[in-house]
Amino acid sequence: MTSTLKTGQAGQPVVLHIARGVGDGATRIDDYTLPAGAAASVLDGLRWIREHLDETLAFRYSCINANACKECMMHVDGEVVYACVARLEDGAQYDVAPLPNKARVRDLVSEIAPSKERLDLDPT
Ligand code: FES
Repeated sequence: MTSTLKTGQAGQPVVLHIARGVGDGATRIDDYTLPAGAAASVLDGLRWIREHLDETLAFRYSCINANACKECMMHVDGEVVYACVARLEDGAQYDVAPLPNKARVRDLVSEIAPSKERLDLDPT
């Protein structure tokens, strides 16, 4: 499954407006500008940001482009997508957020494990 979210302008930078925060705390929007051609997918863009702009940005992935692990699910422009297959277009801007129907852990990481599979940190 590959999805192109919108059309942009070739040769222009891509801007990601990313909702960030921890747990139930306040949400802020951080804007990141990526050079044209730096990233083919939303996940590529997030990895580029973490490598070049902000190593604190949190997101989850495992298989990268195999569309097998389902760990990269997030909300982009109001749609739930797999970030590894959602395509970025040069010159476009995107709103990126954690899943809307799951508890936020940090930034783009949502609690996706079923409750009975989660590690019990307080077994008393
Ligand atoms: S990283 Fe595994 S499905 Fe996207």
